[in-house]
Amino acid sequence: MSAISLRNVKKAYGKNEVVHGVDFEAAAGEFVVILGPSGCGKSTLLRMVAGLESVTAGDIEIGGRVVNALEPRERGCAMVFQNYALYPHMSVADNIGYSLKVAGVPRSTRETRVKAVAESLGLGEFLRRKPGQLSGGQRQRVAMGRAMIREPLVFLYDEPLSNLDAKLRVAMRVEIRRLHQKLGTTTLFVTHDQVEAMTLADRIVVMNKGVIEQVGTPADVYHRPQSTYVASFIGAPGMNILPARLGAGSSLLLLDDGQTVDLAGHPGGSDLPNEVHVGIRAESISLANHGRGVRAKVHFTEELGSSRLLHAEVGSTPIIVSSKDAGIIEPGAEVNLELPPDSLHFFNPDSGRRIAH
Ligand SMILES: Nc1ncnc2c1ncn2[C@@H]1O[C@H](COP(=O)(O)OP(=O)(O)OP(=O)(O)O)[C@@H](O)[C@H]1O
Ligand SMILES: [Mg+2]
Repeated sequence: MSAISLRNVKKAYGKNEVVHGVDFEAAAGEFVVILGPSGCGKSTLLRMVAGLESVTAGDIEIGGRVVNALEPRERGCAMVFQNYALYPHMSVADNIGYSLKVAGVPRSTRETRVKAVAESLGLGEFLRRKPGQLSGGQRQRVAMGRAMIREPLVFLYDEPLSNLDAKLRVAMRVEIRRLHQKLGTTTLFVTHDQVEAMTLADRIVVMNKGVIEQVGTPADVYHRPQSTYVASFIGAPGMNILPARLGAGSSLLLLDDGQTVDLAGHPGGSDLPNEVHVGIRAESISLANHGRGVRAKVHFTEELGSSRLLHAEVGSTPIIVSSKDAGIIEPGAEVNLELPPDSLHFFNPDSGRRIAH
């Protein structure tokens, strides 16, 4: 188990800087997920840790040792990719044991270790098969076996599940988490899928355009997003964001269509600037009786089985409400929404950063 630490790490391709000074630390044994949309620099960051990409500035440390100048094979990282490229002509056993063979490990030792790794991944009965005779999930596990057998200091995963169908993805998620519990190897896992991040991570690093927006536990990033970016990215649906102004005596919020939300009882009301972006989760909103709360117009509803999402608009601002008990609501219907003051998040409209309260 080795801690990984990145200090002001930058990457430029020619003049184009794509990672702008990233700082974070994964403690020994921690499972850290790097989350962000396509092109934000996740793979670049991971490849710099692995040594497949040089670092333009800053330091990367693994197990207390700066690895910037080390070759990939000297860093003790094992990497699993989305396209895991098994050797098609080799058996499962030979694929898993390949790195040991190259390293000159004697056959009997190799066989024992391959067997142990394959057993731990539920691949014991497939050792003689070729990759072409396996399902996608089994192939993914072979790729993981190939990484595990080297007993690496750290595991690096780059979107390893995105080629799998939805059901298998969920099953492999559980498998990866179980494996981590058993081995306790420090892990960096890259994904653009926030559900994957929420379910796998001890901590999530949320990235946006080459910078870190927030580092926190899944509960942190969900319940205390530090920016509107994180608030909208995390959760399905993301947090609703409504532009608003502060009304008389800071006890009222004025929404863009002139409707008001009572802030009575909100701890930080008096510290707020004049204009804010107000965040509220879909499940924090409830349907209210006529004459209460704010009026919204429903455009359509989305049935999720255990709940329903109402896609509505307050004035011209879209808002999504999650409701367990709403009956059928026709498109065009008007509903009243209760926005409880203690469920509101406030963000600076210019910077998008959370306003502490
Ligand atoms: N070899 C390269 N030369 C020039 N630019 C590159 C190179 N590799 C990546 N980039 C650029 O760096 C940025 C970050 O790329 P990166 O692959 O790290 O994104 P990502 O977050 O992994 O995205 P995705 O989710 O699509 O895999 C992108 O704008 C990309 O075009
Ligand atoms: Mg990538």
